[in-house]
Amino acid sequence: RRAAGEVVLRARGVGKSFGGRAAVREVSFALRAAETLGIVGESGSGKTTTARIALGLTAPDTGAVEIHGRPWTRGDRAQRRDVQVVYQDTLAAFDPRYTVAKVLAEALAVAGVPREHRRARSVELLELVGLGAEHLSRRPLKLSGGQRQRVAIARALAPSPSVIVCDEPVSALDVSVQAQVLDLLEDVQRETGVAYLFISHDLGVVHHLCDRVLVMKDGSVVEEGPVGTVFSEPAHPYTKELVAAIPRLAAA
Ligand SMILES: Nc1ncnc2c1ncn2[C@@H]1O[C@H](COP(=O)(O)OP(=O)(O)O)[C@@H](O)[C@H]1O
Ligand SMILES: [Mg+2]
Repeated sequence: RRAAGEVVLRARGVGKSFGGRAAVREVSFALRAAETLGIVGESGSGKTTTARIALGLTAPDTGAVEIHGRPWTRGDRAQRRDVQVVYQDTLAAFDPRYTVAKVLAEALAVAGVPREHRRARSVELLELVGLGAEHLSRRPLKLSGGQRQRVAIARALAPSPSVIVCDEPVSALDVSVQAQVLDLLEDVQRETGVAYLFISHDLGVVHHLCDRVLVMKDGSVVEEGPVGTVFSEPAHPYTKELVAAIPRLAAA
């Protein structure tokens, strides 16, 4: 694995409440180029809210996010292109009327790629995710779950982002397909140097893919560090509990 580079996205003490109830409190992290930072925690622990804050879709009540050392403002088009997302639910992520060609052409248009270059660039993006030009005429909804997730990754790559936020990107896929998509994410990172903020409730997946991990509970980060260390020598009782529940991790 290549050494991680400069900090591309930094969260400083971000917090968010809904109706007076804290969903995320005082969360800080730095994500470096070509690095994968995992966020694990049970349902409701604040992972998606943290992801949405990183994406600029939810404004934090406290703290701030920086992209390449500059305050993150969703109004800034260049910054917006720099942080992309891949969701779990790939069906909801696509307009049912669109072909893959149209999905990618639109993403490239938003990224400022001139019309005459869009088709060739679309084919390159498909190649990057292990699909071919023959998929351009298909509709994402008619593809398999794994293929659809590949198209979602290609679309996220269209503006050549520094960061892709992946919120449970393989949780809806069969286990064998999960492994293929995780391998693809690794290949894409090696090729492009993109950083991933990788959210999952599945410790096995995080162990496989991530360099470092944040463990969230009730909106707070209770532990963080390199995945090897956190999962082999968990310090916080909650992390110990999570790791103990996964026999193959506890044994590793
Ligand atoms: N838009 C919202 N309105 C009200 N409550 C929300 C909203 N988004 C998240 N929450 C609450 O914030 C907490 C954290 O949710 P979330 O970030 O989705 O956790 P996770 O992704 O770890 O399951 C939960 O209690 C959830 O109900
Ligand atoms: Mg979530």
